[in-house]
Amino acid sequence: MDKLIIEGGHSLNGSLKASGAKNSALPILASSLLLEGKLTLSNIPHLKDVTTMIEVLGSMGANITLDEDMNLEIDTSNLKNQIARYELVKTMRASVLVLGPLLAKFGQAEVALPGGCAIGSRPVNLHLDCMKKLGAEVVTEGGYIKAKAENGLKGAEILFDTISVTGTENAIMAAVLAEGETVIKNAAREPEVGDLIDCLISMGAKIKGKGTKELMVFGVKELKQTSYEVMPDRIETATYLTAVAMTGGEVSIKNSMPETLDSVLKKLTEAGAKIDINENTINLKMDKNLKPVDISTAPYPLFPTDMQAQFISLNTIAEGQSSVVETIFENRFMHVQELIRMGGDISLAGNTAIINGKKNSLHSAPVMATDLRASASLVLAGLVAKGETKIDRIYHIDRGYERIEEKLNSLGANIERVTG
Ligand code: EPU
Repeated sequence: MDKLIIEGGHSLNGSLKASGAKNSALPILASSLLLEGKLTLSNIPHLKDVTTMIEVLGSMGANITLDEDMNLEIDTSNLKNQIARYELVKTMRASVLVLGPLLAKFGQAEVALPGGCAIGSRPVNLHLDCMKKLGAEVVTEGGYIKAKAENGLKGAEILFDTISVTGTENAIMAAVLAEGETVIKNAAREPEVGDLIDCLISMGAKIKGKGTKELMVFGVKELKQTSYEVMPDRIETATYLTAVAMTGGEVSIKNSMPETLDSVLKKLTEAGAKIDINENTINLKMDKNLKPVDISTAPYPLFPTDMQAQFISLNTIAEGQSSVVETIFENRFMHVQELIRMGGDISLAGNTAIINGKKNSLHSAPVMATDLRASASLVLAGLVAKGETKIDRIYHIDRGYERIEEKLNSLGANIERVTG
């Protein structure tokens, strides 16, 4: 199993290009099931989760090729089955995103129930409720969600009692080919939902309300082939900016979408970083002592849960006390025990972490990655820790960060990937 070995103590300087967004690429890949003809995608990141979604589509008979410009072409016109198998779904919960499009296009779907997860119980009840509202018969049997809509889906009013990102995406993808009008209330407003909407609109879907809590989808008979460029990954960008705030230095991230990062940039500024935005480039300069910042996670446009772990790392080396409250997932603090092993002074009370930050508190230790963003927080800690930090089980990080060691090394970090 690959490990990362990080020599701490180097400041980061230079520039990077943001990769395509994982959480946008996944639903957009699933949306290829909806159309007649090919979906051609650019800016798809090279990530394990993207490969898994491609495998899910491939296992149903989709034809997937890379064209000469490295665009991904997906053709689902000769699908052999509508089954997302357990062997694939168990490695990535987002596989459930094929449920809505399969039902909408083929009137049937079998999707393995995702199992447990390192960050919380993460049920899929909201996804199933949406499909039922749209007229599907849904049962769970033998570890599979089995859904049918023999006479097609019918537009309906869907009200989410909890905001769900992939739940909203599944509902939209089911509704675009449903007969009549669907209203989705309390929809997720994450930019990745907006990116999916833009891609669907370019296929001919009729959707109103992008970026708001209420979406209206007017069903159409069919969607046509299109080309689409996936938006940049705001969480990857925010992770690297947080790294620079911790190590000191000056870094520009190009091809980013600064307007999607307001809540994070505000907290980095509060922590002492100087941030300048020039169109799609974000420049962060850190030449002061870090200040601790209080965080509470919440759905977009508030502070993202996907940046919570990285900010706990930041707070461990910022002089003073801070609190970080996790309101989205009930068990997303697995990184805390590992950061404590590296010298962090952190205590947990329910969904709140209290951090007593100290400038040079982190030192090297062998640590273990437990989920994607937890792994990122350990990399950030390793960049500032005294000595050499060894991070085990880094396959988690390869699910969501493209060539993380190459990108950070190009800025002056010293990270080595070792196998075995
Ligand atoms: N929830 C339910 N029932 C459901 C669905 C969700 O109770 O049927 C609950 C969840 O347990 C959670 C809350 O609703 O407490 C919100 O979860 P949400 O459904 O929004 O999460 P998700 O769609 O499964 C996406 C991202 C996650 C990100 C969350 C929150 C993708 C592929 N994944 O997950 O990304 O943390 O939204 O923003 O878009 C990551 O990239 O590291 C990651 C975990």
